[in-house]
Amino acid sequence: MCGIVGYVGPQPALEVVVNGLARLEYRGYDSAGVAVLGRGALHTDKRAGKLANLRRALEERPISGDGAGIGHTRWATHGAPNDVNAHPHVDNDNRVAIVHNGIIENFAALRLELEEQGCKFLSETDTEVASHLLSTTLASRGDGDLAGAMRDVCKRLEGAFTLVAVSTDDPDLVVAARRNSPLVVGRGEGENFLASDVAAFIAHTREAVELGQDQVVELRADSVVVTDYDGDPVEVNEYHVDWDASAAEKDGYDYFMLKEIVEQPRAVADTLLGRVTVDGQLTLDEMRLSPAELRGVEKIVIIACGTSYHAGLIAKYAVEHWCRIPCEVEVASEFRYRDPILDQQTLVIAISQSGESMDTLMAVRYAREQRAKVLAICNVNGSTIPRESDGVLYTHAGPEVGVAATKTFLTQLAACYLIGLYLAQVRGMKFGDEINAVIAQLATMPEQIEKVLDTVQPVRELAHSLADADTVLFLGRHVGYPVAMEGALKLKELAYMHAEAFAAGELKHGPIALIEEGLPVVVVVPSPKGRSVLHDKIVSNIQEVRARGARTIVIAEEGDESVRPYSDVLIEIPAVPTLLQPIVSTIPMQVFACELALAKGNDVDQPRNLAKSVTVE
Ligand code: F6R
Repeated sequence: MCGIVGYVGPQPALEVVVNGLARLEYRGYDSAGVAVLGRGALHTDKRAGKLANLRRALEERPISGDGAGIGHTRWATHGAPNDVNAHPHVDNDNRVAIVHNGIIENFAALRLELEEQGCKFLSETDTEVASHLLSTTLASRGDGDLAGAMRDVCKRLEGAFTLVAVSTDDPDLVVAARRNSPLVVGRGEGENFLASDVAAFIAHTREAVELGQDQVVELRADSVVVTDYDGDPVEVNEYHVDWDASAAEKDGYDYFMLKEIVEQPRAVADTLLGRVTVDGQLTLDEMRLSPAELRGVEKIVIIACGTSYHAGLIAKYAVEHWCRIPCEVEVASEFRYRDPILDQQTLVIAISQSGESMDTLMAVRYAREQRAKVLAICNVNGSTIPRESDGVLYTHAGPEVGVAATKTFLTQLAACYLIGLYLAQVRGMKFGDEINAVIAQLATMPEQIEKVLDTVQPVRELAHSLADADTVLFLGRHVGYPVAMEGALKLKELAYMHAEAFAAGELKHGPIALIEEGLPVVVVVPSPKGRSVLHDKIVSNIQEVRARGARTIVIAEEGDESVRPYSDVLIEIPAVPTLLQPIVSTIPMQVFACELALAKGNDVDQPRNLAKSVTVE
């Protein structure tokens, strides 16, 4: 999703802004641009494609300024990703420049109105409306108050937006407004920063100010003034950023994704850390939901998108098994459109790595309107979804830079297990010693993940040998089914291949017709312990597809010899309890998709057409 940077202070604004944009590249983007103020004039440049295109253009045709600067990486919503539609957008007098994240829903009506007043539009974007509106509002106010004009403009806009503007009237000022889309201030010494997230400025300062809904900030080198849309001062939340700058670096790996896959043992360990007391009781105080409220829960509904949705599907098995509470799981984008049945006894669990996915946010708001309690599972502290929920359980994966979710998925699973066990504890569904036994098993997961990571080399080799395949199918049962779905999603988004997952029992109802000579089929096999019926059934499924020519890639528990005769490639994972198996069985899928994409020459950190955080519906 779009990235925004603003700077005012003694350093050359252009350099600070472009470097800040580089730190936001992970959000995914299709064009980039900057505006700086200097000698009473506004200088802008903007280019489609990667930041390197903009840097090259700036080298060929340098711009300079001694005032404030703003920059933007765009992920196209209205209008194609080209130079003209890239931000910043300026008014017809080249007096005001603006960058924007979000969607201005009433832009068409505003554009007509502005065109009637004589404004000439150059782009197809909704954003350009804001630059002309800001300029005409500034002119009609006649007081040169950019912040005042921004407040007036915001009152006329509908939708979700972060807007950041500069004007030649006041070259040492950056003004920004926030509604629904993220924006954070970085307080420096004699300089100040603005960005979509702290990654853009942690190299300069770790002191941050969180902006609330419908607030406007005036940023000067020596002051940060935050008001509401009426101009009244508001209380702001100031905080210190703990993230180590190096945590957002690649650490010697060629791609963030590779580094993030190997960070998974630490990420899961950190997420479990401090959540069990010495006497084995779970303490999830930050959930802000009282045991009495949790005892009253009659139904759980999990809402999420993409990979987070797969975590939710796995959570359902654990929650229903441990707590005996009915649990539904739904993609957030569909949720509020089907008139779901919610009430005060419903606990909605919203899973979102970023805490900013608009589909999930809107579903959260809807659920709260229906008086359901909402508990968020989120990796980004202070992001919108946890702020708007009744309670939150943060995962501690650290920043995830690669667009494809990896370590945050495993930490979401850990968080879901913690919530399931906690609910079972407060509702008295399990005895203390039973909960302790699962907690003890959970505590060994980081070690088990290490083991998988130590043995995935054959998966890398396999992936390289399949780089020319057109389609890969994935099969699973029980918790292995969402794992298969996650494996297929990873392959689609990274390797741009057709990949599809099926519940293995569904094969015979249609998908088996797809099997042909040499088709790779990845199968996640449940544990054989206790002569599991599911295990035996999936072994039959493997035989069925192999008999029809499929090349079988089997992920099974170490020591499960029953699958060996039917496996063209056997990937062994450690034996862990069935419900926890996704924590280990997902890893070969991540490595497989990542390596296959690399073999095809794809950029695994920034797959085409994708954004890290999707802040539009
Ligand atoms: C896939 C991926 C996406 C996200 C989805 C939800 O690798 O990253 O499918 O899982 O966009 O994002 P969050 O969890 O930030 O709400």
